[in-house]
Formats: sequence, structure tokens, C-alpha cells
Amino acid sequence: EEMRLEERFDAHIDAGDFIEAKDWMPDHYRKTLVRQISQHAHSEIVGMLPEGNWISRAPTLKRKAILLAKVQDEGGHGLYLYAAAETLGTSRDQLFDALHTGRAKYSSIFNYPTLTWADMGTIGWLVDGAAIMNQVPICRCSYAPYARAMIRICREESFHQRQGYESLLTMMTEGTAAQKAMVQDAVDRWWWPSIMMFGPPDDQSPNSAQSMRWGIKRVSNDELRQKFIDATVEQARILGVTLPDPDLKWNEARQSHDFGTIDWSEFWRVVGGDGPCNRERLQARVDAWEDGAWVREAALAHARKQPMKEAA
Ligand code: 3HC
Repeated sequence: EEMRLEERFDAHIDAGDFIEAKDWMPDHYRKTLVRQISQHAHSEIVGMLPEGNWISRAPTLKRKAILLAKVQDEGGHGLYLYAAAETLGTSRDQLFDALHTGRAKYSSIFNYPTLTWADMGTIGWLVDGAAIMNQVPICRCSYAPYARAMIRICREESFHQRQGYESLLTMMTEGTAAQKAMVQDAVDRWWWPSIMMFGPPDDQSPNSAQSMRWGIKRVSNDELRQKFIDATVEQARILGVTLPDPDLKWNEARQSHDFGTIDWSEFWRVVGGDGPCNRERLQARVDAWEDGAWVREAALAHARKQPMKEAA
């Protein structure tokens, strides 16, 4: 019986069908999705911290309002994604516990410091740009609740990327020499960590084969990374910044850019918890959880006092 169920499931996947929460699915498929969706949600919530750092220091009211909207969007993306993960039978408390105890991952990129205002535009341009490249294919992920969450998230991400690029364009075209230098410094610091966001090389990616077999990962890590690099080189040229990779150059034969060696030891060090800001990011999340305990308790106490809804 189990075999027949698995065969039917595989036939659905091969036919390009979507799997809904109520459908039968192999335990490993369920576990893989809880892993990826919850870590994606953690990334959105932790991702609010580096940018939140600049909301009170935005240079104008317009930039403050835009940054506020972006950080608020990311909180919402986290909630959609936790809700998608809960359709697989895990509770939000379990997901948060995995993050707070360091068992769950979140995107490496959010473990770097945001040192100047130009970091805000650079994160919008490069980090949200990379996130869009990675998230568009997930709109066709075989697990329907995840795919549906992605469609709405991708629409909002494109606003995030555009506002970042426009902010840098303003600094590069109207800014002082010091502001132009500030942009170049931010690009120098964020370029390599941004291309690491796509994950390890395909031949060092333990989850890719199975995730591609199941239609969870539609495009490989290296392919998305290459697509992002090819799209960004042109944008950098228009912006008037250089990307900090002397080996970056167009390869006519490959019809894409060759680029330098990525320092995967840095990547694994950051993923392993030893990046520049890992401890403070995780501490900020644990503090928020503990400081917010009274709100959860009050809400639960209030809910318990509500007269049981008469049976309809
Ligand atoms: N940061 C942290 N961990 C990473 C990572 C990164 N950039 N890239 C890979 N890893 C981890 C994987 O999670 C996996 O560890 P695990 O098995 O314990 O989960 C390990 O490194 C090996 O990597 P694999 O390539 O085998 O893992 P995946 O097949 O899961 O591919 C992924 C990694 C491409 C990130 C994939 O999980 C994915 O597409 N996730 C959903 C999208 C996502 O999380 N995007 C980044 C978030 S940024 C964001 O959305 C915020 C936006 O507002 C800016």
C-alpha cells in the first residue's frame, strides 16, 4: 500500500501537479519542506534586523517611510512562510525553538553588519535582487502552499529591489564624492556575501538532487547564481560602481560572465554560526521572544475567557 502511494505521488510530481496540504506525501518530502520553508521564514524575520538598524537614521522622511514599508513587508513574508510551514504539521513554537536554539538556519547574508546608509540601497539592490532570482522559481514549487506564498512575496520583493537601486542611483548621480565612495564601499562589502546566498556549488549541495527530483528546487544553485551575476554586471555599469572581482568578465563562448573564486570557507563559517553578527542577530531574536512572552500569555488568557463559540 505504502509503495502504491509513493508511486502515485511520484506520478503527480512527474506530471508537474501541485501537492496540497491534505494530499499524501512521503515523510522525507514533508521534512524537506519544513526545513526549507521554516528557514526561509527565519531569514525574513532575521533579515529585518540589519535594516531596522537604519530606520531611525534615514536621511529623509521619504527614505524612512520606504525603509519602514520594506521592513514591515519582510515581517509579513515571514508570517506567510511560517503559516505555509504549519500546513505541514509543525507548530510555530517548534519552528521558533529551532531558530532560538541554533538548530535551524537562516540566510547567511543577514550575519553581516550594516555600517552606512549606502548599505540600505545596496541590500535592496543586491540582497533583494538575489532573493528575487532565487524565489521566482519557487512560485512553481510542487508544494502549493509554498508556491502561493511566493507569488505574493515576489511582487513585494520587486519593490524592495527597485527602491534600493533607485536610492543608490540618486547617491551616484546627485551625491558628493564622499557619498559616491560610500556606495562603492558598500558594494565592495556586500557583493561576495550576496552571491553566496544562492547556496554551495551544485557539486557540494547535499539537498539539491532530491529537491530537484521533487520539483521543490526548479533551478540549481549555480545556475541561479550565474543568472544573478549576469543581470547585475549591467546594472553596476549603469550605476557607475565596480564589482569587487577582478576575474569578472564576459565569456563569449559561454554567453555569460566568468567570475572569481568564492571563499566557501567564509560561507560555511557564517552558516555555522561564526559570522560577523550571528551572535547578536540570534540574541536579538531570543530577547524579542522572551520580552514578548507576556503578550502571548495575555492573548492566551484572553482567548480562554471568551465564551466558547456556540456550535454553529
Ligand atoms: N544561508 C544559510 N544556509 C544556507 C545557505 C545560505 N545562503 N545556502 C545553503 N544553506 C544551507 C542549506 O539550508 C543546507 O543546510 P540544511 O540541510 O541544514 O538546511 C546546506 O546549506 C546545504 O545547502 P543545499 O544547497 O544542499 O540546501 P538547499 O537545497 O536547501 O538550497 C537554498 C539552499 C537555495 C537557500 C534553498 O534552501 C532555498 O531556495 N531556500 C528558500 C529561499 C531562501 O531561503 N532564500 C534566502 C532568504 S533571503 C530572503 O528571502 C529575505 C529577502 O527579503 C531579502
